[in-house]
Amino acid sequence: MYKGKARAYTNIALIKYWGKKDAQLILPMNNSLSLTLDAFYTETSVTFSPEYTQDTFTLDNDKQDEKATAKVSRFLDLARKKAGISYYANVESQNFVPTAAGLASSASGLAALAKACNDALQLGLSDKELSQLARRGSGSACRSIFGGFVEWEKGYSDDTSFAQVIPSDAWENELAMIFILINDQKKDVSSRDGMQRTVETSSFYDAWLDAAATDLQTAKQAIAKKDFAALGEVTEANGLKMHATTLAATPPFTYWSPESLRAMNCVRTIRQAGLPCYFTMDAGPNVKVLCQKKDVPAILDKLKQEFSPEQLTSASAGKGAVSLEMEVSK
Ligand code: ADP
Ligand code: DP6
Repeated sequence: MYKGKARAYTNIALIKYWGKKDAQLILPMNNSLSLTLDAFYTETSVTFSPEYTQDTFTLDNDKQDEKATAKVSRFLDLARKKAGISYYANVESQNFVPTAAGLASSASGLAALAKACNDALQLGLSDKELSQLARRGSGSACRSIFGGFVEWEKGYSDDTSFAQVIPSDAWENELAMIFILINDQKKDVSSRDGMQRTVETSSFYDAWLDAAATDLQTAKQAIAKKDFAALGEVTEANGLKMHATTLAATPPFTYWSPESLRAMNCVRTIRQAGLPCYFTMDAGPNVKVLCQKKDVPAILDKLKQEFSPEQLTSASAGKGAVSLEMEVSK
C-alpha cells in the first residue's frame, strides 16, 4: 500500500493560458504568468493498493461518476508508468474552492494530485518535473506547484513545457487579490472546451497570440520594476483580450454575466476615485481584483457598497504545493 497526501493552492493568471497546440500532452500556444494565492486550495490523498480492483475518486465526500473518475485514472496512469507499477488507486480530494466555477479548481486539484502521487509512489520528482506531470492533468496546474509569481514556459515537447518562479524580491507579498463571487456553480463551457473552440474557430485567435507575447514581456518588466500600475494595466487588458476571442468563435460564447460587467465597472469606478485596482476574469463569471495589500480595507469598503460580504474574499500570495502525509507498507 502506498499513500501520499498533499495540498496545492489555486493560481490566477495575470497573462492567460488560452489554447493548446497539443491537446494530448497539454502544450500551450502561449506562455502564461500567474500569481499563486493563499485563500483557495485543494487537499488530496491517494492510496495505491494491490487489493483495489478499480480506481475510485471521491471529491468533497461525493463518489464521482465514471467520466470524472476516468479523467483522474488517465492521470494516475502517468504516475503508475513512472513508478512501474499497475496498482489501482483510491483518490480522495477536498476542494476548498468552488469546483469548475472559474476559480481555478483544476489548477489546485491536479497540482495536489500530482504531488500526492509523487509522495505515494516515491517518484522523487524535482519541482520542475512535478510541474511537467501536473501539466498533463490540467495546464494551469503546472503553475500551482510554485508559489508567488510563476511563468509557464510553453516549450515544444513534454520535457520543455513547465512552470518556474519569476524572481520578484518577494514583491508579491505586498499585493493581494480580491475575489468577487458572482456564481459558484459549475459553468456551461469548461475551460478545456472553451479554449479548444476558440483555437479552432475564432477569427480573433491570431491577434490574441500576438498580444499575449507582448503582454507577457510587459508584465515581466513591471514585476522587475515593482511597478504596480503597469502590472495592473497589462493584467486587465490581457484578460479582456482573452475574453474577446470567445465572442468571435463559432458558435460564439462568453463567460461574462451582467453581474460580471457590474463588478468590472465597479472596479473601474474605484480606480478612478484614486485607489489602484485592476480586474481579471477566467473561464467563469467571477471577477478577481488585483490590488496592493495596503489598499485592501479601503477597496473592500467600496465593494461592500455593491456586493454582499459573502461574495467577497481577499487573498494574499500563496505558497507552492506541500506534502502533508506519506505512508508506505509492503
Ligand atoms: P475551474 O475554473 O474550477 O478550474 P475547469 O473547468 O477548468 O474549472 O476545471 C474543472 C475540472 O477540474 C473538474 O471538472 C475536474 O475534472 C477537475 N478538478 C477540479 N477539482 C479537482 C480535484 N480536487 N481533483 C481532481 N480533479 C479536479
Ligand atoms: C482561463 O488549465 O483549466 O483559467 O489545461 O484544459 O485543463 P486545461 O485548462 P485549464 O485552463 C485555464 C484557463 C484560464 C487561464 C489560465 O489559468 O491561464
